[in-house]
Amino acid sequence: MALVTVNELLLKAEEGGYAVGAFNANNMEIVQAILEAAERENAPVIMQASQGAIAYAGLDFITGMVRMAASSSTVPIALHLDHGTDFDQVVRCIRSGFTSVMYDGSQLSLEENIAITRKVLDITRPIGVSVEAELGKIGGTEDDVHVSEKDAMYTDPEEARYFVEQTGVESLAVAIGTAHGQYKGEPKLDFERLAKIKALVKIPIVLHGSSGVPEASIRRAIELGVRKINIDTNIREALVGEMRRVMKEKTDEIDPRKILGPAREAATNIIAEKIRLFGSSGKA
Ligand code: G3H
Ligand code: 13P
Ligand code: ZN
Repeated sequence: MALVTVNELLLKAEEGGYAVGAFNANNMEIVQAILEAAERENAPVIMQASQGAIAYAGLDFITGMVRMAASSSTVPIALHLDHGTDFDQVVRCIRSGFTSVMYDGSQLSLEENIAITRKVLDITRPIGVSVEAELGKIGGTEDDVHVSEKDAMYTDPEEARYFVEQTGVESLAVAIGTAHGQYKGEPKLDFERLAKIKALVKIPIVLHGSSGVPEASIRRAIELGVRKINIDTNIREALVGEMRRVMKEKTDEIDPRKILGPAREAATNIIAEKIRLFGSSGKA
């Protein structure tokens, strides 16, 4: 089928009380792993590309691979720009065929973030492309967040209400204690804050930095209104972990297919596991 929008998937997830997995696609093997996992689980899925992925693979290759995956598939697939920080990049992705974009103005002032998010929505609304925004600073696992800094970094519920009112954005990524990359300790999510945000903001909530978050926390976050869950690091770990294992076992192997094939299967398995955890199995 043709690519669908993220909005369409998240509105169904809202009705059904589950979350849709958004998996970072950096190369052909990962695109195929996401597709295979979604088909095994009969689940809707979001394939997302960061600016780094686009710089690595090329915009046309990303769009071409994901379009190809969708056209041969029976499950709904959306193509989303992850953490677009540059307005021109957002426009290039839309022109290339992305059905959803994240405009990430979280490093800007609130008013600047509102102004550019609005500008993005001005161009997406007439053509039916979905928009995700970010409020608060999600950061990396290298940034230690002290309790005293939480209020400065985490999403403020009142500010979230104001931001959504001012922009009319369709989904919102929040900072509630997750971080990108591998966690050193166990992440502790601020569920009270999430509940307050959800009470004030009626749109689907997006959780970033979800690799390594305990299963119970993921389930609780979904109960409290998270509808899109971003996973990248767990795919990297599975893929590269298996590549390392094979290369160590077969030191003379020079056929990349013999290394990347099992690695793709390992990535497929972790993606399918996440889809089941998010409750989106059977929701295609
Ligand atoms: O949010 C970060 C994603 O894991 C993408 O990472 O910018 O290295 O592609 P990247
Ligand atoms: P992880 O790499 O921590 O899973 O985060 C992914 C993400 O948030 C992509 O936007
Ligand atoms: Zn992210």
